[in-house]
Amino acid sequence: MNVVVGVGGGIAAYKAAELARALGERGCAVNTVMTRSAQEFVRPLTFAALTGRKVITDLFADRSADEVLASSVEHIRVARENQLLIVAPATADLLARFANGLADDFLTTLYLAFSGPVLIAPAMNAQMWNHPATQANLALLKARGVEVVEPGSGPLACGEVGAGRLAEPGLIAERALALLAPARRDFEGETVLITAGPTQEALDPVRFISNRSSGKMGYALAEDAARRGARVVLVSGPVNLAAPAGVEIVHVRSAADMRNAVLEQLTAATMVIKSAAVADYYLENAPPQKMKKAAMRMSIELSPTPDILAEVGRIKGDRLLIGFAAETQNLAAEARRKLETKNADMIVGNLVSQEGVGLESDMNEVILVRRGADPLALPKATKRQIATQILDEALRLRLALHAVTRS
Ligand code: C5P
Repeated sequence: MNVVVGVGGGIAAYKAAELARALGERGCAVNTVMTRSAQEFVRPLTFAALTGRKVITDLFADRSADEVLASSVEHIRVARENQLLIVAPATADLLARFANGLADDFLTTLYLAFSGPVLIAPAMNAQMWNHPATQANLALLKARGVEVVEPGSGPLACGEVGAGRLAEPGLIAERALALLAPARRDFEGETVLITAGPTQEALDPVRFISNRSSGKMGYALAEDAARRGARVVLVSGPVNLAAPAGVEIVHVRSAADMRNAVLEQLTAATMVIKSAAVADYYLENAPPQKMKKAAMRMSIELSPTPDILAEVGRIKGDRLLIGFAAETQNLAAEARRKLETKNADMIVGNLVSQEGVGLESDMNEVILVRRGADPLALPKATKRQIATQILDEALRLRLALHAVTRS
């Protein structure tokens, strides 16, 4: 598999070297294109040594007339000979030039000439990332089918903390391989209803109770199901994630809103996956005005939210119903108890007390507690990989359960 890594000029350019190596290790032949400013951060020799291939550094720079003639169609040749274009780090400037169709160096001409999938991993200062111009360029590129590996949050080179860190090279490589793999269409004909993210329960017009769920697990499930041919309806609590391509999204805030949306969408669904971290309690009759501070203790009495999973469990018919259980202890036993009490067919259990997996993280480590089968432990992997395995298991489970009902 031939891939191009286009390296933009940013501090994160050195991580593109790790990406090139990770792609090489996964069997890709990696061709590197560096912008002029990328070469200020990392020398082309680094990439040449890691990939064993000549690095393309510019369109007409420092060349004789003959060489210019020979290289004037090189971007077309590179476009034809590679199956995927990855741009990492993609600077704000590169996003703007791609979005506007500017083509004044090798990477931007290659982008225009390239007809295959394009994967972009942006990295920049948080202000630049959040600027409406950058976000508008990104939205335009996404609408044109460009895949984006969102940057992570954390300390940035500029000393600020926020969104803008280049995604981990391993994660970018994995997305790249997923784009290269021909999608199995084994969810064709399914309508999968997925809930994701936290809910927010209002205490007054400006305050709420919520939790640390990022929505990443549910969004990964939605993306994978859609890629495999399902119609996907994603009922999402408030999260900072873009809707995956080809997924119908319903935005909700509270558990009550989520319940209404789920019940509305249920009829069409053949499978329901409840990965949302629904708040368990809410304040009935939240005051319409902001609560005032006073110099004394205060207490609020909370009521339980509707248990959407249990409610769907009572009326699910022959839909496959999958729930989640985030626990800090007794994972397998708790997951089994939820399977029974909520009439689910599978509970995905994860320990949320471990560092580096579960809530907020890109990684997860889960057990699948299935109706009529032993628990299945899935080793630590990215949420995308876990999503694929959950969906594989869902199809297998349905076949097994149908076989039981028929016999
Ligand atoms: O009982 P517990 O909240 O731990 O169960 C978790 C599972 O139940 C998740 O699948 C979650 O989406 C679902 N749930 C729900 N409605 C609630 C609480 C949890 O659907 N009010």
